Amino acid sequence: MALEIEPKPLHPAIGAAVGGVDLSQPLETATIAAIADAWMKHIVLVFPNQPISDDALVKFGQQFGKLEIHPSLAHRASRNPEIYRVSNLDEKGAFIPPDDTAWQYVSQSWRWHSDSSFREIPSNGSILHGIEITNEGGNTRFANLYDAYDALTEGEKARIDPLWVVHDHENILDLAHGRNARPEGGAYEDLPPVRHPLVRRHPMTGRRCLFLSPHTMARVEGFSEEEGRALLDELIAHATEDRFVYRHVWTKDDVIMWDNRCTMHAVEPFDNRIIRRVMHRVTLVGEEKPIPAV
Ligand code: SIN
Repeated sequence: MALEIEPKPLHPAIGAAVGGVDLSQPLETATIAAIADAWMKHIVLVFPNQPISDDALVKFGQQFGKLEIHPSLAHRASRNPEIYRVSNLDEKGAFIPPDDTAWQYVSQSWRWHSDSSFREIPSNGSILHGIEITNEGGNTRFANLYDAYDALTEGEKARIDPLWVVHDHENILDLAHGRNARPEGGAYEDLPPVRHPLVRRHPMTGRRCLFLSPHTMARVEGFSEEEGRALLDELIAHATEDRFVYRHVWTKDDVIMWDNRCTMHAVEPFDNRIIRRVMHRVTLVGEEKPIPAV
């Protein structure tokens, strides 16, 4: 019999915990559909106590769509290229030197972002397995960008609905002081800048939401650099108010599935020189370009 899932909300705006499901096993069609429904409703689903292998994580993800191969070679798991390693340790378990581009790149996840916003067709969602978790810092925050949009005044909505933003993967490399790593080591694929609407319509729910991903947002079209920056900073500050944000304190073997089309997330800083943090992510390929709100 297919599993009846009963998600337990974790925050009034976003996030629910789903128990009683074993992600290491293939799921029945009805259970996959129930998870997909709960995902659309709660946006972020937490599956506690899932000590799954990387192969099982890949298989779980594939039940919800095709998986991306991340453009940074340095962070792909050597056995499973679909696994993106979000970690301050290398695959042998040694700390990555803090000034190494590989760590600088991963540490950009401390900034708010939506995964793969640097692609013309950004990712639908991500699924992250907490393998080694921190006990000081390293929690992950998720912002509900539907509610953040809905809470704007009609005037603010009318102002931002038609705007477009240029997103650029090079921004992440610049922040990571890693621009040189790309041509030298071929560690990062070369991706051209792309333009995305600032307000998008979710293809499944039809709801409007902000599309914010601060680590790739380079400029707002038609605005001077200062005006564009000021507008984006104002929207980011608004969208990351506590009323829109669920903060996940990790327990080992939590698996979290989130929708990149209506959220952004950020890792809280931790001491990456001495605290071990190993998270493995699979990322669902997007099916279409973001739909502009107008
Ligand atoms: C990510 O930015 O996709 C990973 C978030 C995390 O490590 O908690």
